[in-house]
Amino acid sequence: MQKSILIIGACGQIGTELTMALREKYGADSVIASDIREGSDSLMQSGPFELLDATDYAAIEDVVMHYEIEEVYLMAAMLSATAEKFPMRAWNLNMNSLFNILNLAKEKKITKVFWPSSIAVFGPNTPKEQTPQNTLMEPSTVYGISKQSGERWCEYYFNKFGVDVRSVRYPGLISWKTLPGGGTTDYAVEIYHKALEDKKYTCFLAEGTKLPMMFMDDAIRATISIMDADSDTLKIRSSYNLGAMSFGPEEIAASIKNHIPDFEMSYEPDFRQAIADSWPSSIDDSKASEDWNWKPEFDLEKTTKEMLANLGK
Ligand SMILES: NC(=O)c1ccc[n+]([C@@H]2O[C@H](COP(=O)([O-])OP(=O)(O)OC[C@H]3O[C@@H](n4cnc5c(N)ncnc54)[C@H](O)[C@@H]3O)[C@@H](O)[C@H]2O)c1
Repeated sequence: MQKSILIIGACGQIGTELTMALREKYGADSVIASDIREGSDSLMQSGPFELLDATDYAAIEDVVMHYEIEEVYLMAAMLSATAEKFPMRAWNLNMNSLFNILNLAKEKKITKVFWPSSIAVFGPNTPKEQTPQNTLMEPSTVYGISKQSGERWCEYYFNKFGVDVRSVRYPGLISWKTLPGGGTTDYAVEIYHKALEDKKYTCFLAEGTKLPMMFMDDAIRATISIMDADSDTLKIRSSYNLGAMSFGPEEIAASIKNHIPDFEMSYEPDFRQAIADSWPSSIDDSKASEDWNWKPEFDLEKTTKEMLANLGK
């Protein structure tokens, strides 16, 4: 099946793997990668690439017209930890990029949009365990406020203008192909690199900080599944809860120790602890299972095996 797809923010942790997966599915020339910087060699050499700023509506429109783009995956954003340092820049990037894409869809220049939300939409007053789809949401971070506002706007554009926008609330993502881009769950990737390099790691979150997490293969599968789903089956047009596993830093350390027995972990929590403390520990994603058959495949043990095997090569 041939269709033209644009990925904005394609050189990041998710965009890199998403681009490769979509090129595999739809053919390399049908999937246009774009970013404000160049990406990995494998990404750059596998198909078309455009330098593109997600906040520049006219430039995006040019690329959309030139390649006759039908679907846009908007992956450009400033993530949670970096956004606390640059609140206004984060707000401008996270919101204006979304408005650009929603408005292109409203103008019927594209037909479908994927925009990712995050577990950061929840806040310190949200129930922490098995956080429901619909619950109290009072995000206390710049990033979380931008994601919650984004969700409201997605639903609004769907209801008012019929924009076919689809979204999931990703948990922290663990991957080996690309490093994470400034989030609060980055430790769960760094730890594998350091375990192999130095056999020790100092974690910036405290012992017992249990957070929802997911291996990248599951995240890519979820993204492609929700985009493939029949529009009528998608009852939620803000963003779906999405879960796979939940653990604290000491549990990931124990799982690494099963493979590297002399691995040592120490803890020096920094400003990211407060962000993590405001987020859920685990997620109820039953709506995603009911509406588009979501089911994760990777638990912590399987993730650890994949991470150590691939990073160790
Ligand atoms: N990685 C996670 O754990 C996670 C969890 C929840 C939600 N998300 C969301 O998923 C999306 C992608 O996240 P990621 O982890 O791949 O982020 P990332 O930081 O790794 O990648 C973002 C990419 O966007 C690019 N970018 C920045 N400003 C841009 C601009 N003005 N125009 C075009 N590109 C620009 C960056 O160069 C980078 O390549 C974001 O919306 C993020 O909020 C990620």
